Amino acid sequence: MIVLGFESSCDETGVALVCTERGLLSHALHTQVAMHAAYGGVVPELASRDHVRRVIPLTRTVLRDAGLSLSDVSAVAYTAGPGLAGALLVGASVAQSLAWSLSLPAIPIHHLEGHLLSPRLADPCPAFPFVALLVSGGHTQLMRVDDVGLYTLLGETVDDAAGEAFDKTAKLLGLGYPGGPALARLAEQGNPDAISLPRPMLHSGNLDFSFSGLKTAVLTRLKDAQAQPIVSERLAADLAAATQEAIVDVLVSKSIKALDQTGLKRLVVAGGVGANRQLRAKLSHALKSRTAEAFFPPLELCTDNGAMIAFAAAQRLSRGMIDLTAQKHGFDVHPRWDLASI
Ligand code: KG4
Ligand code: ZN
Repeated sequence: MIVLGFESSCDETGVALVCTERGLLSHALHTQVAMHAAYGGVVPELASRDHVRRVIPLTRTVLRDAGLSLSDVSAVAYTAGPGLAGALLVGASVAQSLAWSLSLPAIPIHHLEGHLLSPRLADPCPAFPFVALLVSGGHTQLMRVDDVGLYTLLGETVDDAAGEAFDKTAKLLGLGYPGGPALARLAEQGNPDAISLPRPMLHSGNLDFSFSGLKTAVLTRLKDAQAQPIVSERLAADLAAATQEAIVDVLVSKSIKALDQTGLKRLVVAGGVGANRQLRAKLSHALKSRTAEAFFPPLELCTDNGAMIAFAAAQRLSRGMIDLTAQKHGFDVHPRWDLASI
């Protein structure tokens, strides 16, 4: 079966075709980064309007790239939440209308389930069960994943997400939007040991995270420095390196605790921060010495994309988890949606 999938929860329009037997056939993405950069962050109304502009041309692209037509598609999937309400409604309405006009099932997918299962698009594909570290702009969670749809929350952030900590610190350092990749680039020129930053909740005894104190610590260092005539480029680079190191240290340490607690040997990393090279390197290194294995999605599929949505739907379809007889083409989106509830 071939699934056409749409992602439009935030500032990326993603469309993809996934085959339940052959895997990913084609995917296309339009990122709105350049459009939002002038405002220093995502402007929801602009995001919705841009999704409207992009979604049909991207659909034509993926069909052409895969050498298929709409008549080859067996189901249409879309991100139903969490995310920006207006942006979600674009993908949901396009997917539901297409499905209705073609008499196909429409499959609403939880955005985090998309991220969570996306490392299974890579080779090697992690077998169930595994621990998933979900690190995106809005979420930082450790989950136990026993199978598709069987998710148990082990711990999560009590305040800012890891991606948010990257983004907010980048903003303090005057870097562009989105901050994560910009901060990671600047960190390459800095010395993480030059400045000591806190490792929030490292020894909290549970698997929860807290990252909001980090930006406050960085802000304090910057205020101290601004008493000097010039805040040096060196200080900015050192702060970037120290921030990245602090975030990565906490993520690595809690991921290892989650493996110890569950007795599992596989860790899957998903979400935008999963693109961070230092996180990838430190996790892989830390797990090797514990005979555990780390799995990452292909770099281009770490941040939001349509492939993960079509793929999550394909896995649900393959397992007979979609009731194809109970299709109604009214729809709803869930800007806030707990993954453990699906
Ligand atoms: O999963 P994602 O694309 O969107 C959400 O669902 O939130 O994650 C976006 C987040 C942003 O906070 C961005 O700054 C961060 O992922 N990010 C990174 C890197 N690439 C993206 N953070 C650190 N290092 C990176 N290389
Ligand atoms: Zn995401």
